[in-house]
Amino acid sequence: AQTDNPEKFRPVYHFTPEQHWMNDPNGMVYHEGLYHLFYQHNPNSSKWGPMHWGHAVSKDLVDWEHREIALYPDSLGTIFSGSAIIDKDNVAGFGKNAMIAFYTSNYETQEDGKRKRFQTQSLAYSTDNGRTWAKYANNPVLDNPGIKAFRDPKVIWHEASKTWIMSITEGQKIGFYGSKDLKKWDKLSDFGEGYGAHGGVWECPDLISMKSGTKDVWVLIVSVNPGGPNGGSGTQYFLGDFDGTTFKPHDKETRWLDWGTDNYAGVTWSNVGNKHLFIGWMSNWLYANAVPTEKWRSAMTTVRDLKIVEVQGKNYLTSFPIAGYQKNLKAEANRLRSTHSLDIKGFNNALKLSFKGVDLSEDFRVVFENSIGEALSLHYSKKSGYFALNRSEGGLISFHKDFAKKMLAESPIGDGRCNLDIYLDKTSAEVFVNEGLVTITSVFFNEADFDSVKTSFSINPGNMNLYRYVK
Ligand code: FRU
Repeated sequence: AQTDNPEKFRPVYHFTPEQHWMNDPNGMVYHEGLYHLFYQHNPNSSKWGPMHWGHAVSKDLVDWEHREIALYPDSLGTIFSGSAIIDKDNVAGFGKNAMIAFYTSNYETQEDGKRKRFQTQSLAYSTDNGRTWAKYANNPVLDNPGIKAFRDPKVIWHEASKTWIMSITEGQKIGFYGSKDLKKWDKLSDFGEGYGAHGGVWECPDLISMKSGTKDVWVLIVSVNPGGPNGGSGTQYFLGDFDGTTFKPHDKETRWLDWGTDNYAGVTWSNVGNKHLFIGWMSNWLYANAVPTEKWRSAMTTVRDLKIVEVQGKNYLTSFPIAGYQKNLKAEANRLRSTHSLDIKGFNNALKLSFKGVDLSEDFRVVFENSIGEALSLHYSKKSGYFALNRSEGGLISFHKDFAKKMLAESPIGDGRCNLDIYLDKTSAEVFVNEGLVTITSVFFNEADFDSVKTSFSINPGNMNLYRYVK
């Protein structure tokens, strides 16, 4: 529909590949002034295909510079998802402060017309801050123990046991492996049976040590596909303890990092001290290959800070855009027509809208509209205690049968008041309730940008802030 302008749907401030296909964020690591973002990339087509690691760098996680492709397929296979670390003590022997990437070598064959995959874990290293890469001569570093889906290595340093820990997909479980030299990996344990959502494979794990007040809490992020809360791909997480060998969850509950359809395979940056910086792929395997962009396909979510908060006696993981975005967000005070209507004409759909102290003892609506009848609405129902983001009144919804959707998100807040932040960027909306306690991320595709926002709640104009994204 948009072939007259191949850039029509491109976000302004979300990361997109210059061209062709992108999925999972990979190998995020900070080193000598640069944040690195690698990603699953098919450089030859805008559909998923033989995977490479694309590469971009940023000084502030907001503005990105594209780099050459970092990792190409080799005799062991194509390059599936993984992570990167900085080897400060040169335990692997590639050099002090070498950047080491762990990825899945995905070897594909056809048998009786059926695709067969054989997955092992490999490493590559760079001694020039990610400019050039060499594959390790003795790959794979971790052979396949006989598991069909065996992939997405995420490596972290575990201080208490002075061991590197690799978390990895093992079908519908997460396996944990330990190593002292980053080359020889020994199985420690696995986690997953009897916990969480099991609609599909558990992919792209991330094990993170965080603080809840003064207490240490271990967070295990696990993407699941299908089986997400609103269909298709989704990201769940578990809160628990990790003793260097096993992950023990605190409870049996399934928690969602994001309730929207479009936040998948997200993990956190390595080598950023005690910060927890997260980015996800802003799409869903249900329709990722069918979304109406041709030149490039898919964007990442905003980069988000993760925190643990306690609400009504229970801990949750919150995810909220980093403060860095604010540098390009310009306050637009005079766009308020009434407390129920805001003018966003000419904003290019690139904006942030914030409400403080929204009353949850009543239903409410926030509706983005344009003159050709396309809409996106957020609704809160007091009775059910759910937020709902509805993109089914958008312009282009029929390119895939599962795209038109009203996404439900459960609120643990009760009927007090909440803060609401909505980040819009051309073809995506990220909704944050109480600084990311409840998050809904969704892409949408319209023929025109929105002109106005209507709200049903009564709010002091001082508690309403509109920002235009300028770059
Ligand atoms: C998740 C995923 C990973 C895999 C990669 C392949 O979206 O399926 O498990 O490594 O994509 O591109």
